[in-house]
Amino acid sequence: MGSLEGQVVVFTGAGSGIGRAVVTRYAAEGARVVALDVSEKVTELKAELGDRVVPLVADVRSWEGNVQAVQTALDTWGRLDVFVGNAGITDAARPLEDIPGDRLAAGFEELFGVNVLAPILGVRAALDALVESRGSVILTGSFAGSHAAGGGVLYTASKHAVEGLVRQLAYELAPDVRVNGVAPGVAPTRLKGTTTLGQTAADSVLDGTREALPLQEIPEIDAYSGIFTLLASRSDSAVMTGTMVTADSGLGIRGIARPGGRVRTAG
Ligand SMILES: NC(=O)c1ccc[n+]([C@@H]2O[C@H](COP(=O)([O-])OP(=O)(O)OC[C@H]3O[C@@H](n4cnc5c(N)ncnc54)[C@H](O)[C@@H]3O)[C@@H](O)[C@H]2O)c1
Repeated sequence: MGSLEGQVVVFTGAGSGIGRAVVTRYAAEGARVVALDVSEKVTELKAELGDRVVPLVADVRSWEGNVQAVQTALDTWGRLDVFVGNAGITDAARPLEDIPGDRLAAGFEELFGVNVLAPILGVRAALDALVESRGSVILTGSFAGSHAAGGGVLYTASKHAVEGLVRQLAYELAPDVRVNGVAPGVAPTRLKGTTTLGQTAADSVLDGTREALPLQEIPEIDAYSGIFTLLASRSDSAVMTGTMVTADSGLGIRGIARPGGRVRTAG
């Protein structure tokens, strides 16, 4: 029996990258998932995972889209145990001085709409059902949620905000709903850029990233799936709430001369 047998999940940003890998793992662990994404790619999950997943194409920034996701879970399986707010976009680490002042507000609204407002909308929409099931929330943060230089000002501030949400919501929803987060370092994906700043999708892994990581490996796309599974498990993470799980390949403990004590640098 899988560790998520019987659990019903609403999962945003499920169409690609980390989200798609975690949804695949959740299904293998016995969960049933409403998989939400703004991209039609999310509909491919139906063919891959069968009746364990109901894909939903919607924008996480819309209240109606979040309500529809929760209602789909309730109509299809009669309950909701976990809300995962994972959809995200990036500012491609653009420095503040390279963003025209008259476009900042639009860029802020777009990026904070997806990375910060959307998880608030999602949790609000899921609240009654999660209280009823004594369920849990998982939000995707980032290395940029506690450090500089994992993004530009907009992305870094948004992921710091996600850490604040995890703490505040964990407080507000205790003792009925646990709220935790995962802060990945890097993953081989192509995060969408902020269209109001004229950005398209870009590789998340920059040149030189592997060498900068103390663990010296770019993680596989499913490297984070076990952590998301742990946090969704009623038994394995029963004592965790208000926790950000750092999963950054050691970036936060990098040294100055060498990224790790046993890393051999050239020359
Ligand atoms: N890739 C990395 O190196 C990395 C590192 C740290 C944190 N993260 C975070 O991981 C999460 C997943 O990102 P990923 O790297 O897998 O990228 P990804 O682009 O593959 O996945 C993000 C998904 O969110 C969806 N999405 C974007 N805007 C949306 C909207 N308005 N409505 C609905 N869906 C929307 C996209 O279509 C996409 O499928 C994000 O929150 C990201 O900030 C990624």
